[in-house]
Amino acid sequence: MQLAMIDDKLVGMDELAPCYLDRGIFFGDGVYEVMRSYNGRIFALEEHMERFANSLAAIEISGVDLNQVRVRVKKAFESAKIENAKIYFHITRGSAPRNHNWDGNLKPNFFLTISEIEDSSKMKEEGVSVSIYPDMRWKRCDIKSLNLLPNVLAHNDAARKGCFDAILINDTGLITEGSSSAFFAIFGKKLQTTPLGTSVLPSITRKFVLKAAKNIGLGIIEESMTVPMALCADELFLGVTTKDIIPVIRFDERKIGTATCGRYTKQLIEEFHRFTE
Ligand code: PDD
Repeated sequence: MQLAMIDDKLVGMDELAPCYLDRGIFFGDGVYEVMRSYNGRIFALEEHMERFANSLAAIEISGVDLNQVRVRVKKAFESAKIENAKIYFHITRGSAPRNHNWDGNLKPNFFLTISEIEDSSKMKEEGVSVSIYPDMRWKRCDIKSLNLLPNVLAHNDAARKGCFDAILINDTGLITEGSSSAFFAIFGKKLQTTPLGTSVLPSITRKFVLKAAKNIGLGIIEESMTVPMALCADELFLGVTTKDIIPVIRFDERKIGTATCGRYTKQLIEEFHRFTE
């Protein structure tokens, strides 16, 4: 008879809870979003919803009612009553016995969690260290997919080195982005970051950082840089929804600038927070 085994327990396939057959587990066949709220208000909800819709379309998960997703996000957020919340949700193609081919009629699975945003004020003041790691991801990093093993391996290598994140380096020696963040450098009065495309995630924080940079009069260069270039920067920082802007004071064990939060990074943090009010 067809059986499943969960740890030591044998279960008939017909009694198996569908979540064990989720294509998200077998293949990473799903996409996700991470949003946050500031003081009781979800930030950039529509920007995240638009990216989520793009990710679903890119892996051909159809039939998702985006307004239903929006309603669920708001319902969970209001029920959790967390002022500064991290909102994670994903949709997988659905549950079915493992088969690379998917059945077009599968019902997508939705899953969401809401948790307290960790306080990053100390990190913002003191800055963080980052290490470097090969970018081993697939060719569509613009899709926010559940295929995060290369990101996780890089992130854990950084953690072992006492670093906040790993900066990913592609086969030609160019920096793409952090394993879970966007990467920025300041040279004089110019802000530089990797151009959008299939090698990086279209980070929502990145969009607002560029807006903030314009507002404070920084020039913007959307061009990839090498590690030696990054090491010459006056300031480095990361961008990620859960922490907005995080100064980088050590890059691959080398001190950056004065190893404190740079003057323009500080101004960008202040300008960014104006968007969240
Ligand atoms: N990560 N690049 C990668 C590879 C990321 O995983 C993330 C975010 C970012 C920043 O994107 P945004 O500004 O939209 O948060 C860039 C989320 C937070 C995560 O996987 O937990």
